[in-house]
Amino acid sequence: MIDYAALLRPDSGQPATNIHLVDVAGLDGWIAGQPERVRTTVSAQRFTGKPAEYAILPGDGASDWSVVAGVRNAEAPGCWCLARLAEVLPEGSYRMAGGTPGASGLGWLIGQYRFDRYRKGDENQGPRVLLTNDVARIDATVRLAEATAMVRDMVNTPAADMGPPDLEGVARDLGRRFGAQVTVTRGDDLATGYPMIHAVGRAADRHFAPRLIELLWGDPAHPRIAIVGKGICFDSGGLDIKPSSAMRLMKKDMGGAAHALALARLVMGANLPVRLHLLVPAAENAIGANAFRPGDILASRKGISVEIGNTDAEGRLVLGDALTRAGEEQPEVILDFATLTGAARVALGPDLPALFTNGDRMADGIAQAATAIDDPVWRLPLWDGYAEMIKSDVADINNAGEGGFAGAITAALFLRRFVPDDVDWAHFDTFAWRASARPGRPKGGDALGLRAAFAWLQGRYLRE
Ligand code: BES
Ligand code: MN
Ligand code: ZN
Repeated sequence: MIDYAALLRPDSGQPATNIHLVDVAGLDGWIAGQPERVRTTVSAQRFTGKPAEYAILPGDGASDWSVVAGVRNAEAPGCWCLARLAEVLPEGSYRMAGGTPGASGLGWLIGQYRFDRYRKGDENQGPRVLLTNDVARIDATVRLAEATAMVRDMVNTPAADMGPPDLEGVARDLGRRFGAQVTVTRGDDLATGYPMIHAVGRAADRHFAPRLIELLWGDPAHPRIAIVGKGICFDSGGLDIKPSSAMRLMKKDMGGAAHALALARLVMGANLPVRLHLLVPAAENAIGANAFRPGDILASRKGISVEIGNTDAEGRLVLGDALTRAGEEQPEVILDFATLTGAARVALGPDLPALFTNGDRMADGIAQAATAIDDPVWRLPLWDGYAEMIKSDVADINNAGEGGFAGAITAALFLRRFVPDDVDWAHFDTFAWRASARPGRPKGGDALGLRAAFAWLQGRYLRE
């Protein structure tokens, strides 16, 4: 991984290229104060101050150039307003002329993200370092960049190299790094305690055996929280096999686990005063003679019997057992992340994770934190009236909704059956993927809802 800490450094007056931020409203005033050669080059480059525009400005000597960048509001730079600059400017050191990067420091760092595990990086693109006077903010910004890069790397990595053992490896690395305890229940040991994780994962190769990965960290006297992430390392659909076009991207079906692991990393990195319980049910939804079948009725850890209407609705099964386990320890909060339904994408598109909570206060709190940190989410309802869509004729519940309506909602209602009523629970149905690039956010795996969840946790647990 890139050394993000090397890209955001304290400003001690070292030589650096200036970056001027300008918005459309402030453009004329800024231009008026510039020498003739700058005014000429600004108009020659057709720079109008709109977001994402930039122009290179000449100085007195060859090495004395600077940059002007258009942003929405030059007074309060947003998260992504420097991201494109960090991608396109040459290697070197930069500073903001007359200001600090604020939120835009993150975009500067993560704008330099590349997924180069399987090919050489571009050698012409050396580090672009941003200097800042806001030294107190550096560490937290670097940790956000690292957590975001971690999600991207994990999601971008193909299933062959990001199977259940690899997810376990990531959890064990975090455990070592932060002094957390990691416990793994694997393979046939899942059969009695975690029947649904076992059923979903049992057709996979031995080497990819399903597992429940648990990490426990922090002072037991602190309030307990649980973070859960769907770790389906590849979703073929099972016997209800997906068409090839739908299967193509299913290496990303462990995106929820990547978010959960990255959120745990942020919580531990910031030393949040909580007792953290991370749970990742990891499995490959594979096809084989021992695969679970449509019509099978599974036992679950909760004791609810589950009829399989569709083996492709596997995420809610592994999550059901993991949420049950989380609830047994009576945490005050459970957050789960999952690439759970195509329906959430139909409803909200790829940019907005669907947020479900069992209380309005939590929904409002997360939505506010999300807006403030520029990591939007959108609430959908746990609409009780749709519970009948996941009724079964022969078991307590069916894993697939009937009729094809409200797929994201019926999936969330299914999960709710496994969450204790008195726990504050939020479920993020996230895409974990960007189909087209935006500044700082290349096409491919991405963290969506991660910073929102972390900001909300900080607001709740970091009381001064
Ligand atoms: N992993 C998929 C959901 C998914 C598909 C997320 C595409 C993002 C993009 C999940 O396991 C799944 O297959 N869900 C089914 C549920 C249905 C069978 C009830 C879906 O959404 O079609
Ligand atoms: Mn599926
Ligand atoms: Zn899936």
